[in-house]
Amino acid sequence: MANILITGGAGFIGSHLTRLFVNKYPQYQIVNLDKLTYAGNLENLKDIENAPNYTFVKGDICDEQLLQSLFEKYQFTSILHCAAESHVDRSITDPLSFVRTNVIGTVTLLQVAKEFWKNNMDGKLFYHISTDEVYGSLGETGFFVEDTAYDPRSPYSASKASSDHFVRAYHHTYKLPIKISNCSNNYGPFHFPEKLIPLCIHNIINNKPLPIYGKGENVRDWLFVEDHVSAIDTIFHNGKIGETYNIGGHNEWTNIALVKELCKQMDAKLNREPGTNEKLLTYVTDRAGHDMRYAIDATKLKEELGWMPSLQFEEGLSKTIDWYLANTEWLTNVTSGAYQKYYEGMYGA
Ligand code: NAD
Ligand code: DAU
Repeated sequence: MANILITGGAGFIGSHLTRLFVNKYPQYQIVNLDKLTYAGNLENLKDIENAPNYTFVKGDICDEQLLQSLFEKYQFTSILHCAAESHVDRSITDPLSFVRTNVIGTVTLLQVAKEFWKNNMDGKLFYHISTDEVYGSLGETGFFVEDTAYDPRSPYSASKASSDHFVRAYHHTYKLPIKISNCSNNYGPFHFPEKLIPLCIHNIINNKPLPIYGKGENVRDWLFVEDHVSAIDTIFHNGKIGETYNIGGHNEWTNIALVKELCKQMDAKLNREPGTNEKLLTYVTDRAGHDMRYAIDATKLKEELGWMPSLQFEEGLSKTIDWYLANTEWLTNVTSGAYQKYYEGMYGA
């Protein structure tokens, strides 16, 4: 038995993680606490909403009283902390929202967990889901390992780095049992279409320009979201307390090569002439402070816990495109209203 609080379970990664835990571990009681910001969507969890071991609570991780009442009611034994503001571009225009949720929200959660668990930390776990962006930006060679020095360069990555530091500080100071994982770029179903891959899928479907920042030479290391949550499952159950694990798939792509691969696959899937979608490629002003390259070395996770990614990128991308083509209603719902305003502010019409 375990009573697990998942925060941010209605978002992209959180919804995959919640689904995995609810279905795979019927003996666990799962409470999903999510504020339902623009990025949180209960449609992502329709298939499990009535599961007997699942409860949804709408609320903010910065709300200390709410957290206390949830701890009282559900007597949590573990926390899987996913809730965050997650989009780098939004952090450039509105850094304080990132400080509020990612830093203050995380510390509020740590504080409440520490108070509830202080008399008996046995069997408890605060698992913090973090990002490779805390390590900064790589040149053409090298990889991020677990003890690469932190060098965050965007308000988003600075807020995540700060939250990682607080999680470790609670371990060292108060002996709070923690684990942290830092993962590379995820892709897959339910990814909000402000991020590169779903944004381009959405625009190809609608014959809209594909905005490529700068020269498109920046490199990201892409991992299918179901592989990320399987790694979290492995670390949650078998990882060592106090440790950090890097998660990645050794799958580096320049943005331009990736978007061209997407164009090619979608020409075929939409019965368009080869080369049709590439005509939508549009070079736009670069992201301020755009990190050049991220690449994860996940050797520790492989050697200590035996985890490996299961999917090749072309296959994962094909599955992802198929999901979006079969779920155009989901896309329409999340791209209406407030998101439309954000999009016009970022890219014009
Ligand atoms: P997301 O933006 O899709 O989802 C975030 C979720 O958190 C949403 O459901 C939102 O409603 C909720 N939320 C935001 N503020 C909240 C608050 N104050 N209280 C309660 N809920 C709140 O994000 P994601 O891409 O699923 O990322 C999840 C986590 O994984 C984040 O911590 C992120 O830093 C990390 N991460 C993401 C990636 C990636 O490629 N997406 C890679 C590595 C790590
Ligand atoms: O590395 C992990 C991180 O990956 C996570 O921590 C973040 O939450 C997640 O958003 C992601 O950050 P990125 O900034 O790498 O992802 P994004 O999809 O926004 O951008 C991927 C690359 O594509 C990046 O180099 C910027 C570029 N880009 C992005 C957009 C939205 C474009 O060229 N055009 C675009 O319109």
